[in-house]
Amino acid sequence: MSFTPVIRRTPPRLYRSKLFVPGSRPQLFAKAAASAADVVCLDLEDAVAPADKDKARDNIVEVLHDVDFGRKLVSVRINGLDTHWCYRDVLALVEKGGERLDAIMIPKVGSAADVYAIDMLVTQASAAVGRRKQIGLEVIIETALGLGNIDEIAGASARLESLHFGSADYAASQGMRTTNIGGGNSDYVMLTDALADGRRERHWNDLWHYPLFRMCQAARAHGLVPIDGPFGDYSDADGFRAQAMRTAILGCEGKWAIHPSQVALANEIFTPPQKEVTRAKAILAAMKEAQDKGLGAATLNGVLIDAASIRQAQVIVEQMALIVGQDTD
Ligand code: COA
Ligand code: MG
Repeated sequence: MSFTPVIRRTPPRLYRSKLFVPGSRPQLFAKAAASAADVVCLDLEDAVAPADKDKARDNIVEVLHDVDFGRKLVSVRINGLDTHWCYRDVLALVEKGGERLDAIMIPKVGSAADVYAIDMLVTQASAAVGRRKQIGLEVIIETALGLGNIDEIAGASARLESLHFGSADYAASQGMRTTNIGGGNSDYVMLTDALADGRRERHWNDLWHYPLFRMCQAARAHGLVPIDGPFGDYSDADGFRAQAMRTAILGCEGKWAIHPSQVALANEIFTPPQKEVTRAKAILAAMKEAQDKGLGAATLNGVLIDAASIRQAQVIVEQMALIVGQDTD
């Protein structure tokens, strides 16, 4: 390990599915609270029309007092720092939202100063009203500037808990020629050389690999949790599963659900598969046996395992323990 430690890590908690609910549709709040989502995000930003912003803010302040969200993490996505709604969102939530609010999600973060500014407002308002619970901050990386400054953003505040990737806004910001929200694009392909029969295969590539990989890396380096963003076509369960599986393997702990039908899919994919859990436990048992014999490296089913394998296996076993713990509490 580097002598520089990972600075901190928020207490482990489940973040497999984050169900978004527009603040302007209060009839959905209780449904979201009763859903199987690990996290509910009440939205004040892009799912709310400009004319509804003030009403949506009032709705959200009210629901934070009136609806029982159980053990869910409750987050509110505020409007961006480039709008005139942003400061009012923060002040209303912190001053009038009560103690149930867990986190504020900041969209389109471009620099550490954006996080600093919200942290300053949250800190002042919390002190003014004598808040007991610390409000966490969640950041969406969804602009070219934000991705460029991701390391300084990830280290910008002790309130930070998670980084999220927003594919639609990111694509727009970078000038990508695509209009899908997450998922593939049939024109983003490689052609193989000619095969024996002369055919050339089209191999689809993942448009989102680089920003998601980069976000996972920056988040982990700063003790934050990386979360994959939206998948727009909520009638395409297989497409959602494939996207979520790739990002789960990269290190994301969960994914947004922009429709209730995506909650179960996210919970399924961000629960480690049984075969991975079984293998991880076998690695830990085999390494314990090897270490008891004074060995550093061993083989399991003909494959090398060593101390790094213990750390890899622990990621999976600890995530599963968290899930089982929550389900049996
Ligand atoms: N949270 C909780 N319940 C929801 C919901 C949500 N976000 N979206 C839909 N539902 C409920 C509906 O009320 C309906 O319930 P019912 O069976 O009791 O009548 C059921 O789920 C099926 O809803 P459906 O008719 O398929 O959806 P819709 O046409 O009402 O809404 C969307 C579709 C996509 C507009 C809606 O799901 C939505 O607003 N999602 C969140 C969008 C968002 O916040 N985006 C910002 C982040 S990218
Ligand atoms: Mg966005």
